[in-house]
Amino acid sequence: MSLHDRIETTLVASVKRGQMQPAPPRLAAALDYALFPGGARVRPQICLSVAHACGDDAPQVANAAAASIELIHCASLIHDDLPCFDDAAIRRGKPSVHVAFGEELAVLAGDALIIMAFETLAKDAATAPDRLAGLVMSLARMTGMPRGICAGQGWESEKRVDLSAYHQAKTGSLFEAATQMGALAAGADPEPWADLGALIGEAYQVADDLRDTLLDETELGKPAGQDAVCDRPNAVAELGVKGAMRKLEDTLSGAIASIPSCPGEAELCALVQAQAKRLSPLGHAAANV
Ligand code: IPE
Ligand code: IPE
Ligand code: MG
Ligand code: MG
Repeated sequence: MSLHDRIETTLVASVKRGQMQPAPPRLAAALDYALFPGGARVRPQICLSVAHACGDDAPQVANAAAASIELIHCASLIHDDLPCFDDAAIRRGKPSVHVAFGEELAVLAGDALIIMAFETLAKDAATAPDRLAGLVMSLARMTGMPRGICAGQGWESEKRVDLSAYHQAKTGSLFEAATQMGALAAGADPEPWADLGALIGEAYQVADDLRDTLLDETELGKPAGQDAVCDRPNAVAELGVKGAMRKLEDTLSGAIASIPSCPGEAELCALVQAQAKRLSPLGHAAANV
């Protein structure tokens, strides 16, 4: 099965469990709406690629890890778009969940997906009890406090914010979970994979900040210029377009250099490079700034 099919099949099975009787129909529909069709699914792809590089001896466990990360990611987008955060009306080219279903159901859909992530791990990774606790701990640490997505969003309510710490928590953490959980799912030591995840995540958010400034809503599938409107700390405001481009390139080079020596090293390198290319529609735009 392709990586794509492994991810989609596991997500469909997870969400179907949450939609069984006696689920309230509108909240059940909001879960589908938030997950399908997906975005780039980059985090679960990275997770499965690392699992593959580490031998992938328990594919069902790796699939659960990958899907759990995507469930948390989709939940974080629902909450991030709410009026009390970024107040974004469009996501992935269609109305955001709170616009389509109302704020109450959007809050609940995000909550339900976070819980579904842990349920997916508990159910599908139970065949490897020796790996389960590590997977749950990694996902919890990278989602909550003091350094996960919750912490990242929490920095938006502080007066002073260190940009790298903010990016690392709101975005880097889940990428770090992706690489570490890929290793854990395959029974490997997660530590050598931490830097790769953290660096891809940081680069990803710098690229997102650049895209927010340089592209329009149609190209992005979400509102443009959002960081300035919401007065969010961001790489373009701090470094300028050229400085942010340099930071993106340097961080991606660091990510590639951090890939541990392993049989899947070349494939992982290619994956990071393909992502870098996908995220850099900036060439011609940046040249004029
Ligand atoms: C959007 O993430 C939020 C950021 C951390 C920049 P993605 O760009 O991965 O969103 P989708 O899942 O592809 O829509
Ligand atoms: C990433 O930050 C958001 C999350 C951690 C959910 P952004 O607010 O920049 O992401 P987009 O631009 O809305 O996708
Ligand atoms: Mg946002
Ligand atoms: Mg953004």
